[in-house]
Amino acid sequence: MMKKFAIPAIVAMTLGTTGAFAAGVEGYVEDYDFSFEGPFGSFDQNQLQRGLQVYTEVCSACHGLKFVPIRTLSDEGGPDMPEDQVRAYAERYEVYDEEIEDFRPATPVDHFPESSLSNAPDLSLMAKARAGFHGPYGLGINQFFKGMGGPEYIASLLTGYTGKDKEEAGAVLYENTAYPGGWIAMAPPLYDGAVDFIDGHENDVEALSKDVAAFLTWTAEPKMMARKQAGFVGVVFLTLLSVLLYLTNKRIWAPVKGKGKKTS
Ligand code: HEC
Repeated sequence: MMKKFAIPAIVAMTLGTTGAFAAGVEGYVEDYDFSFEGPFGSFDQNQLQRGLQVYTEVCSACHGLKFVPIRTLSDEGGPDMPEDQVRAYAERYEVYDEEIEDFRPATPVDHFPESSLSNAPDLSLMAKARAGFHGPYGLGINQFFKGMGGPEYIASLLTGYTGKDKEEAGAVLYENTAYPGGWIAMAPPLYDGAVDFIDGHENDVEALSKDVAAFLTWTAEPKMMARKQAGFVGVVFLTLLSVLLYLTNKRIWAPVKGKGKKTS
């Protein structure tokens, strides 16, 4: 069923006469698996830390995360980094301090900086701001089965470059199979081995893309684990309450019903 829904995008890709898509055509988003999916899914701390490294070494050159306080990197359920590491990490950024009217190294209470490139959007909430899955036929049923697809969209965007580019109105645009319309102003930021991990973890474009997509899902929804847990507790509580109410109801009406039986 899932494959069938993806067909229109694939057909659009293969039928595109100039090799590009017509403007307005939806991009193709791969349904990647993430550890945090499903009612019991949780963030993979190692993956979040790798994603932070990809963001830091590559994406932060252009994109900011201005809504994310650096101290949250040590949050449980998030990257869960030791506080001294977070303090050391913060110092790589400079912030303007109005009190001393000068720049100083950031501390954990500061936020990540804003985007340094004016046309590069802030990524703090990007995983929530984009939906990877739509349809079919405007119904959004795919989202019901696969989720909204924010992280899948980001991973697909980063792996979706075809290698073609063109110049339009003085700007270079790069062909991308995930980007709606097919041409994006962001040059391919990743290549195989763009980031090296200390533990030698896989670092081809797809692995790096998934790691940074997972990290950006955490920045967009840092309390996801707490939310899922609260939801689970809520369901257990309501189930118990239903059973108790059912038994109470039976008991309350038992004399009345019992009488009815005797008289008939
Ligand atoms: C050289 C600068 C640069 C780097 C490095 C860069 N980007 Fe971008 N990015 C851009 C620009 C510019 C845009 C806006 C593109 C447009 O509007 O066509 C963009 C747009 C985006 C978007 C939004 C796409 C949309 O749907 O609107 C995402 C998501 C994104 N970048 C993620 C990343 C990630 C993740 C990295 C690191 C792996 C990264 N970028 C590295 C410049 C950059």
